[in-house]
Amino acid sequence: MSSFVYFIAVILLAADSTLVDGLSCTFYPIPMEVPEDALALDIPGEITCTEYANVAIVSGDPKNVFNIQTNGVSSDIVLDGTLDYEKQQMYQLFIGATFIKAVWNGEVNITVLDVNDNPPVCEKQIYEINITSDFTPVPVGTSILNLTCSDKDLSNENSGLTYTIIGDPRGFNLDNDGKVINIKELKGTGDQYKLTVRVSDGTFETNVTVLINEGRSSGNSTDSSNGDSSGNSTDSSNECNGGIVVPWNDGVQCLCPPHKQGRNCTDDVPDVVSDCEWPSNDDACSTDPCYGKGSVCINTFGENYKCLCPPGMEGDQCDTGSHCFSCSSVRWRNVTCSVFDDAAFLREMNFSGPPIVTTQMSRTKCRNDKWGFDAGTGDIWVAKGCRAKFCIEFEKSAPTPTPP
Ligand SMILES: *[C@@H]1O[C@H](CO)[C@@H](O)[C@H](O)[C@H]1NC(C)=O
Ligand SMILES: *[C@@H]1O[C@H](CO)[C@@H](O)[C@H](O)[C@H]1NC(C)=O
Ligand SMILES: *[C@@H]1O[C@H](CO)[C@@H](O)[C@H](O)[C@H]1NC(C)=O
Ligand SMILES: *[C@@H]1O[C@H](CO)[C@@H](O)[C@H](O)[C@H]1NC(C)=O
Ligand SMILES: *[C@@H]1O[C@H](CO)[C@@H](O)[C@H](O)[C@H]1NC(C)=O
Ligand SMILES: *[C@@H]1O[C@H](CO)[C@@H](O)[C@H](O)[C@H]1NC(C)=O
Ligand SMILES: *[C@@H]1O[C@H](CO)[C@@H](O)[C@H](O)[C@H]1NC(C)=O
Ligand SMILES: *[C@@H]1O[C@H](CO)[C@@H](O)[C@H](O)[C@H]1NC(C)=O
Ligand SMILES: *[C@@H]1O[C@H](CO)[C@@H](O)[C@H](O)[C@H]1NC(C)=O
Repeated sequence: MSSFVYFIAVILLAADSTLVDGLSCTFYPIPMEVPEDALALDIPGEITCTEYANVAIVSGDPKNVFNIQTNGVSSDIVLDGTLDYEKQQMYQLFIGATFIKAVWNGEVNITVLDVNDNPPVCEKQIYEINITSDFTPVPVGTSILNLTCSDKDLSNENSGLTYTIIGDPRGFNLDNDGKVINIKELKGTGDQYKLTVRVSDGTFETNVTVLINEGRSSGNSTDSSNGDSSGNSTDSSNECNGGIVVPWNDGVQCLCPPHKQGRNCTDDVPDVVSDCEWPSNDDACSTDPCYGKGSVCINTFGENYKCLCPPGMEGDQCDTGSHCFSCSSVRWRNVTCSVFDDAAFLREMNFSGPPIVTTQMSRTKCRNDKWGFDAGTGDIWVAKGCRAKFCIEFEKSAPTPTPP
């Protein structure tokens, strides 16, 4: 996918035309702006003269990026070469028109608009951090590592990066500045974590690996941290009423003991005695009961499982929520995206309505004439430079009756 976020560097008005012997020409539109990835025919420039003049670029374009096509009194400024916002952001073209002995000279500035055409680049492919072994516990919410990534696209709108941990975040989170933050206390377990982080500029992405070695705390601090952690974990397990606390999406999710259920394990499960152990059951997740790419299935006990759902999704099987995706009209073309592209599981779902634009990414507003949705095929089209993030609400179709 490519995109169309652009940025106006300078808005310049054409003026400065001299009138000789009655021949005069005007430029349209003013200001004249061209996305850097425009095709020849996207060039909006037009020169209209009072007579059937010969119109030419006199100077200002040594590399012949632009050209003039004359049809009668009106001429088009067309693109013959390629534009690169990162190299040249404005062309000041001097235009001459002649009609018999009449001569007209004018000047127009063409502003090149930035289009997101560079991927983000990170200083390293692999970031590694060793958390010292003789430490005091690292509290939740500490910024333990900074990813240093940037994007060559000059405008801010195009280089705003987002950081996402792909797959299981394992107790860490990232903010929009690329800071890795722990969402569980690090107290010297000796664990190693390998995270894959997707750095995206909205169009292009780069993956980096983050290795975090928690290290093992030395003898005496183990004791003290055990003391601490038992105090804290009593707190935490109270949160789940004796269930297992799993840090998840900045909060926690509970794995309930067999006789309890509900979000915080506060409800009794009828007909289950409470003197139970935690027998694990390896089969419950084998049917892939949890929907969505970011969901995680955990076998609990009995024939049971627990789905940990990615942000925006909920339900026992992560079967309700909203799915978000982006779709971009590249070079003003009509582009079709399928809501199923990234989420085949949605084929089993029931949409509560058409997608809505949640993040407007292009400068051009994605109004109704610029996109549409076909509920029958799940296709969304975007055109005329509309680039946006869309979200669609879903829930699982009415459940098929289960045999008694
Ligand atoms: C074009 O830009 C140049 C440089 O910024 C400026 O001096 C000139 O007046 C502009 N011309 C027009 C017609 O706006
Ligand atoms: C972390 O520790 C390992 C093994 O002790 C070592 O190989 C690695 O270079 C260390 N990395 C950093 C970033 O200090
Ligand atoms: C990361 O950067 C922030 C400032 O943006 C700073 O406060 C923090 O200490 C840095 N963290 C590390 C591990 O360098
Ligand atoms: C990043 O990783 C994801 C998941 O493994 C993969 O789908 C994607 O293609 C990768 N992107 C790049 C640029 O390597
Ligand atoms: C624990 O370690 C600290 C420094 O690492 C030391 O000052 C302290 O005496 C040690 N305590 C015990 C009980 O060994
Ligand atoms: C839990 O840990 C935090 C920070 O590590 C500490 O401030 C708090 O007092 C602890 N709670 C208990 C009950 O030990
Ligand atoms: C579960 O516990 C969390 C955190 O203590 C609390 O915010 C939430 O309201 C509780 N939910 C229910 C259904 O009790
Ligand atoms: C874009 O294409 C779709 C189908 O491919 C069509 O329904 C829609 O009208 C087109 N939009 C524009 C603005 O041409
Ligand atoms: C969507 O779900 C509702 C209620 O569960 C049901 O009435 C409707 O028929 C479903 N639609 C489709 C297309 O499955």
